[in-house]
Amino acid sequence: MLDQLLAALNATERAAVDEEEYNILQAIVEELPAFPAEVSQLLPILQSIQKKHGYLPRLALNMVASHVRTTIAKVYGIATFYNQFRFNPPGRNPIKVCLGTACHVKGGEILLENFERRLEIKEGETSADREYSLERVACIGCCALAPAVVVGEKVEAYVTPSKVEGIITEIEVRKEMAAREQVKNDAANE
Ligand code: FES
Repeated sequence: MLDQLLAALNATERAAVDEEEYNILQAIVEELPAFPAEVSQLLPILQSIQKKHGYLPRLALNMVASHVRTTIAKVYGIATFYNQFRFNPPGRNPIKVCLGTACHVKGGEILLENFERRLEIKEGETSADREYSLERVACIGCCALAPAVVVGEKVEAYVTPSKVEGIITEIEVRKEMAAREQVKNDAANE
């Protein structure tokens, strides 16, 4: 089924399916038969894909439609109705900008714009190298720290536009250190 779907794509669309996504799609092909082929299973199937893989790859929607024998429009309609679903893979460093009332009042929107500019992606997108994804979220429950941003698992408090660059630099430095550590470990294991 997957190869047929890939063959139906144009060259640009096919090129957008990288190895990581291809492996996820393969896994979904294997997971689908566990669900009865009924339209009533649409939501549980989408939830399961989202939970296991962190997002709904575009081709997965076609595969789900064909599994439960419905139209892609119906699957897409359900997937877009619920805001629990993502259509882009989560970045290795997911950034969530809180836009609940307290954070909004204290400049959350400006922070989001700053992250968009710095990362050159829009809210809801993932960078091409999958390092970063950017999302707006509702109140994360630490209004006293507003405006707050969640970077990976860590809550950054009282974030100002000038702190945006520092947050990204910290991630880059950590990445570089991890890469160096890896090289050292590889050398030690040789
Ligand atoms: S509004 Fe942002 S933490 Fe509550």
